[in-house]
Amino acid sequence: MSARYLFLLGMVVGLAAGCGKSEPPAVTPPSAATPAPSPAASTPSAAAPAAADAALPAPTPQSIAARKLDPEKIKRGAAVYRTHCASCHGPNGEATSNWREQGADGRYPPPPLDGSAHAWHHSTGTLEKMIREGSPVIGGMPAWDGKLTNQEIDDVIIWIKTLWPDEIYDIWYKEIERKQKD
Ligand code: HEC
Repeated sequence: MSARYLFLLGMVVGLAAGCGKSEPPAVTPPSAATPAPSPAASTPSAAAPAAADAALPAPTPQSIAARKLDPEKIKRGAAVYRTHCASCHGPNGEATSNWREQGADGRYPPPPLDGSAHAWHHSTGTLEKMIREGSPVIGGMPAWDGKLTNQEIDDVIIWIKTLWPDEIYDIWYKEIERKQKD
């Protein structure tokens, strides 16, 4: 637990500055498990951190309840998500595995929102801004300002937070939300 915590913490500290804004996700993927040409050479311990965020279990209903998110908002947020976001980000925020690769058109595919990419590197305020403004040029994320109400944006962010594994949520809460980092 502590090694993984440190690993995830390192991701926050090291990478939070690199994502968001108008830049494409220029982040070295920790879980890009593309095997090296000499697989026998890698020791199990060297490989362990790479899997750290890929293997996190989904949160249980109990652990989601412990986050004290408003159940009404979760329900409404799920509906907003299904209608407006699922087509690109996947029914459960899983998106596609190739989200780090620029497409032929120079755009990046929609990233997962389920805690396996870096949506969780952002405070609620930054997530709201990203959803409002989108990145129509770089990534093709539509701008939702004026298309969704404030409440709908608030609700969908709450729903997205229910997707994050416990360890991700904990670190997000302690290191990002409470400190109001980007
Ligand atoms: C047309 C496809 C599309 C739709 C629909 C869409 N998105 Fe996105 N979204 C994207 C793309 C592409 C990106 C990556 C943007 C970039 O690379 O700059 C993105 C990025 C994001 C991010 C930032 C993730 C990160 O890792 O920093 C959030 C949060 C997000 N979308 C939320 C939403 C929500 C909420 C909705 C529904 C209201 C939505 N998106 C609908 C395509 C879409």
